[in-house]
Amino acid sequence: EAARLESSTHPNVRANPTISENHMTKIVGHRGAAGYAPENTLRSFERAIESGCDRTELDVRLSKDRAVIVIHDEDVSRVTDGKGMVKDMTLAELKKLNCPSHQTLPTLQEVIDLCKGKISLQIELKAPGTPLPVEHLITRNGIEEGVVVTSFELPLVEEIKRANPSLQVGLLFRTLPKTIWQMAQKIPLDFVCPRYNIVTKALVRAAHLHGVRVYAYHVNRKTGGKRLMALGVDELGTDFPKLFIQLRDAVRRGTPPRRGGAFSC
Ligand code: G3P
Ligand code: CA
Repeated sequence: EAARLESSTHPNVRANPTISENHMTKIVGHRGAAGYAPENTLRSFERAIESGCDRTELDVRLSKDRAVIVIHDEDVSRVTDGKGMVKDMTLAELKKLNCPSHQTLPTLQEVIDLCKGKISLQIELKAPGTPLPVEHLITRNGIEEGVVVTSFELPLVEEIKRANPSLQVGLLFRTLPKTIWQMAQKIPLDFVCPRYNIVTKALVRAAHLHGVRVYAYHVNRKTGGKRLMALGVDELGTDFPKLFIQLRDAVRRGTPPRRGGAFSC
């Protein structure tokens, strides 16, 4: 499979030197560091920074008055004391809602203000209408270089890449799309973003042959993390970043941590 891909890969995208040399998996805090603080809150992003993450992931949607709000679900009820759809509420209404630990729903601008110069972002587009306002906030804040924008929705990925081709983008998926490598070259994708359980050696190899990086998400078990690092996954998204930073650094030093450490499984 790898040989077939190697011979079919365009020479311009084959052997991207930044991908395979000095490989070190970057650790991405999921929804901030959702294992340590309420997800997608400023407290959670602070925990991602304190933990030493290479990047933090966050989810965005639009309010009724088109503010970019950091929240995973379309409905506010799981993460706040309110009820209703994000898209039906104004920024002022959303800001009145309470999250656990005395937090509120942040805007993307508030997260950028907290994170700029400290940690880079992976912004996941959760809803239609988000690509242009998100692109605008990224450029207005001068953070284009470090940011990755992802989505499960191909049209949203295409829209933001069209708006600003210099942005790094990734497509999230739970099952491998049949035409992933054609899409990767057409859009073009900088990252493919599989759920951790479908990552194989062939997938990582094929991605790298196409000059595309691999971000694996929902990685919360140490055994899974070790496997993904050994396969050469470029970035790994987790609720428990401290565990995986410790694991990665111990493996690099050649002294894997003893069983029963911070989090064993
Ligand atoms: O990092 C990708 C991951 O966040 C995608 O799934 O549901 O947690 O947004 P979800
Ligand atoms: Ca997400």
